[in-house]
Amino acid sequence: MNFEELIYKRRTIRRFKQDPISIDILKKLVDFARVAPMARNVQALEFIIVVKPEIREKLFPLVNWAGSLPQEQRTPELGREPTAYIIILINKDIKNVYVDYDVGAAAENILLGAINFGIGSCWMGNINFRKIRTLFEIPDYYDIKQIISLGYPDEESVMEMFKDSFKYWRDDEGHMHVPKRSLEQVIFKIY
Ligand SMILES: Cc1cc2nc3c(=O)[nH]c(=O)nc-3n(C[C@H](O)[C@H](O)[C@H](O)COP(=O)(O)O)c2cc1C
Repeated sequence: MNFEELIYKRRTIRRFKQDPISIDILKKLVDFARVAPMARNVQALEFIIVVKPEIREKLFPLVNWAGSLPQEQRTPELGREPTAYIIILINKDIKNVYVDYDVGAAAENILLGAINFGIGSCWMGNINFRKIRTLFEIPDYYDIKQIISLGYPDEESVMEMFKDSFKYWRDDEGHMHVPKRSLEQVIFKIY
């Protein structure tokens, strides 16, 4: 996949086949995050890779899916859950006031890296921070920031032209539709 395809084909995926992702690929995704741009080159981000089925089972109820969809369409059905997660942590001992931007850049590297391996992903910020801290025995000197859920895609998601709502939606066949504003709408001015 060339760079342009990668950018346009990346859509959030929330239904996954159950084939495992190799640990080498998951480490590679973290490596893509490791080299993302970081303000002042201060590298406070650290990561937890989750693959063990018994831990995934405990983590799954602590992440919240697709807030824009009706309740019954949000959460992946049994057998379509993510097969891996990458939890993004901030090591607070390594100070950086712009660290939230760093998290964004690192997360995007993971998402784009994933699609390059044919892996779907969902960037998740609506998560139960308190219970996740307990589950993984994460010490106080870490902030838990975001989670990337991963797996080989078991749904399709397409961009469509924005009309009057930002809400993504799911059609009767289970395909996701994601409205995006047009290029003309987002270029404020060209000087
Ligand atoms: C900061 C951030 C937090 C997000 N949190 C969640 C989340 O908690 N649960 C979820 O299902 N999707 C989450 N998403 C995914 C967005 O819903 C998704 O990116 C958006 O609908 C656009 O779809 P696209 O990624 O296919 O372009 C999050 C995305 C971002 C950037």
